[in-house]
Amino acid sequence: MEKNITVDYLRLSVTDLCNLNCVYCTPLEKREFLTHQEVLRYEEIARLIRLFIEIGIRKVRITGGEPLIKKNIVALVEMLKKIEGLEEISMTTNGMLLSEYAAQLKKAGLSRVNISLDTLKRDRFKAITGVDSFLEVWEGIQAALAVGFDPVKLNVVPIKGVNDDEIVDFAKLTLKYPLIVRFIELFHTNQRSKKFIESLLSSERTKKLITEELGEIKPSHMIKGEGPASYYKISGSIGSIGFISGSSSNFCHCCNRIRVDCAGRISPCLFSGHIYDTRPLLRSNTQDEKLLEDIKKLLSLKFQYTKYTIKERKIEMSSLGG
Ligand code: 5AD
Repeated sequence: MEKNITVDYLRLSVTDLCNLNCVYCTPLEKREFLTHQEVLRYEEIARLIRLFIEIGIRKVRITGGEPLIKKNIVALVEMLKKIEGLEEISMTTNGMLLSEYAAQLKKAGLSRVNISLDTLKRDRFKAITGVDSFLEVWEGIQAALAVGFDPVKLNVVPIKGVNDDEIVDFAKLTLKYPLIVRFIELFHTNQRSKKFIESLLSSERTKKLITEELGEIKPSHMIKGEGPASYYKISGSIGSIGFISGSSSNFCHCCNRIRVDCAGRISPCLFSGHIYDTRPLLRSNTQDEKLLEDIKKLLSLKFQYTKYTIKERKIEMSSLGG
């Protein structure tokens, strides 16, 4: 496994709560949510991020649950923005509250947003998410464009019989808006996603649906951001489309990311059972040196894991933020 990858990207979940209940994401079993006490405070997060900067992290993506339901999330962005060496702060959100927060987030220093959206139909949105809030999300997307986030990406998970008839409509959004619409292959994470995994639409199939209707698509290399997507443009578009093929291919060898959950547990890989719990250390008199040493040790294990090493599938995107 490749080891000379620079791990410079950290996904930071700030809450395990979400205001949607998506059919393929939220776990089936009754969940115990973390208590307020158990979740890291912003000062604790900022200390952790400062340490991560010392070992090479340059970009942080705020995720959830849904990060915008977190109290005072703008203050966290402001706090992170002050950290020297942190080059970029981005966020993945379901967009429901984005029209309210877009301007404040931009002002606080957030660079980019990814918005998860699986349908452009109001009724279907309610069927997928359990909540009738498509119009709010659409307003959120418009607000994100209006305040100048660059780029604004949409994350779409194509599933047969759920939204495969809307793939072309999603792709066509890039004709009218400077959006990057990314089609993400459904990933088997928990019992809920398992129910849909037979119906996942591969990137290849999704791409075919688009080209059959809209003609050839041309590779595009100009997209800001990290990660494993491959990007294309349809003829005449101002935006781009992208494909993330986590199920049908393996990009473990070029993975540049680590994850921290909202309780301060660091995970070097989605597929590792190795977790390093920082909270007890952050809340005792532990010196930075000790934390740094342990984090370095944990990272040295990162490339032992791949998506094939996992024994039991139970990765909660709903609390790890994808
Ligand atoms: N497979 C692929 N993507 C998923 N997401 C959530 N669960 C899954 C899954 N099982 C996506 C959401 C969101 C991002 C955070 O993760 O659609 O865009």
